[in-house]
Parts: sequence; structure tokens; C-alpha cells
Amino acid sequence: MRGGPGPRIQRFPTLSEHHDSSDRNARHEAFFSLRHRLPRQSPGSDATTRHLLSLAGPLPARPRVLDLGCGPGRSALLLAAEAAAEVTAVDLHEPFLDELRTATEARGLTASIDTVNGDMGDLTHPDGSFDLVWAEGSAYLIGFDTALRHWRRLLAPGGTLVLTHCVWTTDTPSDQARAFWEDDALRTTDQDTRVARDAGYSVLGVYLQPESDWDEYYDALGVHADVADVTRPGMAEAVAGARAEIAMRREHGREYGYVGYVLRPVAVGA
Ligand SMILES: C[S@@+](CC[C@H](N)C(=O)[O-])C[C@H]1O[C@@H](n2cnc3c(N)ncnc32)[C@H](O)[C@@H]1O
Repeated sequence: MRGGPGPRIQRFPTLSEHHDSSDRNARHEAFFSLRHRLPRQSPGSDATTRHLLSLAGPLPARPRVLDLGCGPGRSALLLAAEAAAEVTAVDLHEPFLDELRTATEARGLTASIDTVNGDMGDLTHPDGSFDLVWAEGSAYLIGFDTALRHWRRLLAPGGTLVLTHCVWTTDTPSDQARAFWEDDALRTTDQDTRVARDAGYSVLGVYLQPESDWDEYYDALGVHADVADVTRPGMAEAVAGARAEIAMRREHGREYGYVGYVLRPVAVGA
């Protein structure tokens, strides 16, 4: 896949990555195809979504929620069903939005979830449109700092930004883990919370997600890797990338983790 000590993480391609060769296109398609019909696309669980929701504090009776990089929409479905939220679910990958629309219909939630094919880095909603901006495992695609800067204006007064993000859980990560996560420039939770405060947020909660959240994602991804058709263009590489990511977790999982941040813009003058 790349040079260096071994395969590094294959990131979700974002809109701006444009496909200038059939080889790149095949890799892109295989990456997504391996992940179609997974219930979630990052480490997480319904229990974690519920816990982060509880840290956000009291909400209006029908909160307006913007779920960015929603994928197949596990969090959007939970927020609509359990917080009576009116959810705008944004993603660039139409097949994930199709999966979410199917689940939305099956659960009788069509009046509560609106799917939008859009770029989380280029949102045109008016300022103050949402009580919650929610982003599980997606802020890294435009960068934590950029996400905090861009999404703040979308929150109504008293609104909350909830996102989950990968961090170092040690100050001395191994060379292998560093090389693997090189493109993502991980920081520690202390560093991230400092960045959040400097960006004008108060930190309502920080939650290190349990190992079972990784299992929930990787167990299902591993099953897809086992049955993937590796004769398909790009698929052998996609499977190797997924297996490397899972093995990295097994061997170096103590060095990094997923953290949920619950952040509220500090009111002007406060
Ligand atoms: C790691 S997945 C997380 C999906 C979902 N939140 C979850 O946890 O299951 C990241 C998602 O962001 C989407 N994505 C990538 N770049 C995006 C962008 N610029 N704007 C909106 N969505 C984007 C991908 O298609 C993918 O569904």
C-alpha cells in the first residue's frame, strides 16, 4: 500500500479527493464496497451515543440535530428514536444515505430524519440552526481544529457539539503505532481539550470509549473482509488495509483510543 514499516490506515476518502485514474477509482470503490451494510463505520455503540447524549444536558422537546458524516446513520436513528430529535443527516457517500433511508423507513422515523448528500466542510445552513451538532468518527476528515472552527456557528445559543475522535492514550506511542496513524496526526485528550478551550468551547464531557466499541466495529468489518471477493479490482488492498487496522488495534490498542468530546461554545461576554 505504502512504503515504511507496514500498511497505514486507509482513510475514508473525502469529497475533495478526486479520482484521476481507474486504479484509484477501483480502490475507492473497493474501500466502500467492503464497508457497505456495516451497521457503523467507526468505533462506537448505542450505549456510547446515549452516554454522550446524557452529557449534553437538557435539550428542547424536539431538538434539531445535525449529524455530520452520518454514514449508515446508527447515531441518527438513535437520536431520532430516543431524543425525539429532528435529524439532518449529512454524508457524501450516497449508498450510506440509502442504507439510512431504508432503516429510517423500517423504523417509522421518516418524519424525523432528513438525509442530505453534502460536504461537512462546506455547510450552508444558517447560523444557529441546530441544538446539537453530532459527528461520530468523522471530524478527522476535515481536521479536529477545522471542525471546531467551522461548526460552532451552526449551534443555537446553549447548543452542544458532540464528536468522537481518535487520540493517543500514551505520551510515548511506539514507532509502529506512530507510523500507522501518521496521516491523522493524533494528539492526546489533554491536547485536544486545550485546543477546544482555545477555540472558545467549554468542555462538558470527555469520555474514553470502551474496547467493546472497537469490537463492535471491527468484528463486523472482519467478517466482511473474510467473505470479500479479492479478485475484484482494488479489493485485495482494501481487505489488507482493514486487516492491518484490526491487527494494529490488537497489538497496540493500549496506545490509542476513541474519545467522545461534548463541547459547548462559551457565550459571548461570559
Ligand atoms: C468513519 S465514517 C463514520 C460514519 C458514522 N458517523 C459512523 O460512525 O458510523 C466517516 C463518514 O464520513 C463521510 N464523509 C467523508 N468525507 C465527508 C465530507 N467531506 N462530508 C460529509 N461526509 C463525509 C464518509 O462517507 C463516511 O460515511
